Amino acid sequence: MARILLVEDEESLRDVLARYLQAQGHVCVHAENGEVGVHKVREDSEGYDLIISDIEMPKMDGLAFLRRVQPYIESVTPFMILTAYDEWKYAMEAIRLGACNFLQKNPFDLAEIANAVERGLELRQVYALRHNYREELEHRLREKEEELRRTYDGTVIGFAAMMEGKDASTMAHLFRVRDYCTLLARELGVPDKRLRDIELGSMLHDVGKYRIPDAILTKPGSLTDEEWVVMRKHPEYGAQFVERIPFLAGATDVIANHHERYDGDGYPRGLKGDEIPLAARIFSVVDAYDAIVSERCYKPAQEPSVALAELQRCAGTQFDPDVVEAFVRAHPKMERMMETFEARFQAEIAAIGLGGIEDRSELRAKLQPHAVREKSA
Ligand SMILES: [Fe+2]
Repeated sequence: MARILLVEDEESLRDVLARYLQAQGHVCVHAENGEVGVHKVREDSEGYDLIISDIEMPKMDGLAFLRRVQPYIESVTPFMILTAYDEWKYAMEAIRLGACNFLQKNPFDLAEIANAVERGLELRQVYALRHNYREELEHRLREKEEELRRTYDGTVIGFAAMMEGKDASTMAHLFRVRDYCTLLARELGVPDKRLRDIELGSMLHDVGKYRIPDAILTKPGSLTDEEWVVMRKHPEYGAQFVERIPFLAGATDVIANHHERYDGDGYPRGLKGDEIPLAARIFSVVDAYDAIVSERCYKPAQEPSVALAELQRCAGTQFDPDVVEAFVRAHPKMERMMETFEARFQAEIAAIGLGGIEDRSELRAKLQPHAVREKSA
């Protein structure tokens, strides 16, 4: 048994055909023109296995009806046209638009109609199989994409952890900064396709430190001027490293420019204002905020209000004032997002096999006093 939508304005013809189809065991739903047909296709939650439509009808003819339901009939329900002898040109147009067959009317050949309906319903089976197959493929593709993304994230976080010291508090800082950056970028109207680059850039901002000698990175006490020249190359080193890796290349904007300042007093290039990519201007504000509200070996955690005041004080000098304004505006949303941070963070690091790491921040601080130094640079 099939559900068939019959669209025909001539009542007598419609009744003959409907009675015949019902006698064949099908459910036949009527419509008197294309407009009613469109309504029934859109509103009927059970859907149809086959549509049979006349061409010449008042209000909306068969071709206009066909155009309106074209996406539906090409993937779900075959569409057959009823045509008189003098309408063959229209019938050809209907085939071009996706109709699977046309049937002659006036008079009906009932045997031919039964045959055409049977072939139409077979085609419906093919559509259903094709639809299920496509869904299955899309499902598998989504799974593979997710798997690939987890692999990428594992690599990115692995790099980041290598640079920052693999302990729970540092990792949490990276994840928080990433989440803040994403939210702030959305607040500033950054398109979704660019968000991934900001996420990667925020996680990997210091990856270029891999080329800074340990003697400088872990040197107790102050660096000499010459050592600072070397230290300040880490944004360029990081950018050179990621721009050769296709899936990381988008992170270059943040990595290369995360120590630039809005007033031009930053490094390595001393870029000013809008010369600094927006992604890096976003990162600078977020990184500073998280550093102020987090406990570090050299300072206690401060209240968010203190951090917001500091961002506003430095708006126009260290930071882009528009980004600071957006940050302040989005801050209540960020606070709400952070209420669920710990659970999301634990789930995310567990998913890439880094769960259960301990907090060694105090030990790291003793070994790497440069962390204090760079923040004050
Ligand atoms: Fe840095």
